[in-house]
Amino acid sequence: MYIIKNLKDLYEKIKYLKKTDKKIGLVPTMGNLHNGHIQLILLSKKYVDITIVSIFINPIQFNNVLDFKNYPKSFEEDCKILKNNKIDILFFPDIHEMYSNNLKNQTFIKVPKLSDIIEGQYRPGHFQGVTTIIAKLFNITQPDFSFFGEKDYQQLLIIKTLVAELNYAIKIISLPIVRSKNGLALSSRNNNLNSKQTKIAPYLYKIIKQTSTKIIQKGNINSIEEIIQESKILLLKKGFSIDIFNVYHYKTLNIPDKTTKKMILLASVSLGRTRLIDNKKIFFN
Ligand code: PAJ
Repeated sequence: MYIIKNLKDLYEKIKYLKKTDKKIGLVPTMGNLHNGHIQLILLSKKYVDITIVSIFINPIQFNNVLDFKNYPKSFEEDCKILKNNKIDILFFPDIHEMYSNNLKNQTFIKVPKLSDIIEGQYRPGHFQGVTTIIAKLFNITQPDFSFFGEKDYQQLLIIKTLVAELNYAIKIISLPIVRSKNGLALSSRNNNLNSKQTKIAPYLYKIIKQTSTKIIQKGNINSIEEIIQESKILLLKKGFSIDIFNVYHYKTLNIPDKTTKKMILLASVSLGRTRLIDNKKIFFN
């Protein structure tokens, strides 16, 4: 595994790889790797010859300085995981490498409509930060495929839109949510939960599943609001605070109407200061 920290070395490597017939896959991450990331890497290895993993905690996607500073870091452990999984290149730039003008960027990439709704309402600028860093990473690594998790469902839709509308010749492959045995979606942020919160957290997915079953059993749009309200009360009773717990059209993220058959239940809740996100597709027959 090559560990590359500066752009000059990476450009040279990519230039060389592009002369060969080898297909390149990019798995962008912010490190503190867990099994969700590992499954993305294994997926990449099925599709491509050369898997590049990036680890970069992207300051411009954090709308809270403390959240950025406290983001868990575990470089040594991450390196072991990446070596064990036999990736080809780890790109691990520092902030100045990625934002050479000291974060005084004038150029940003934004997918406005999808970025300003739902999670975007609670995290102003977050998705613009994500799309800007992803566009930069795509330009630098020129992958044929790039791999993203469905856990960050809104992020995934935004990146697919970015790729389609800016004509990137990159195929986006998504991975279903990887969960721990108790159902909790794996996340680097789970490390911030205290022992009491760790016991409460799995109820999020339990309640999501119950909600989905009830909505499918009723089988009509009109009953959704009542079912969602009941679930929200359950979540509050368990100790979650709720930003988002609602059903949307699975592609446009619009509020569903009578014609909508394919939906996604998106949840964004907190336990103390730790934000947990999760989702589940709900498809009517
Ligand atoms: P990060 O949170 O490190 O996640 C990296 C990738 O792993 C994302 O595509 C995310 O959706 C996926 N992932 C995380 N947990 C997962 C799980 N439990 N199951 C399936 N996939 C999971 O998302 C980011 O970093 C950043 O916003 C990034 C895209 C790297 C841009 O900075």
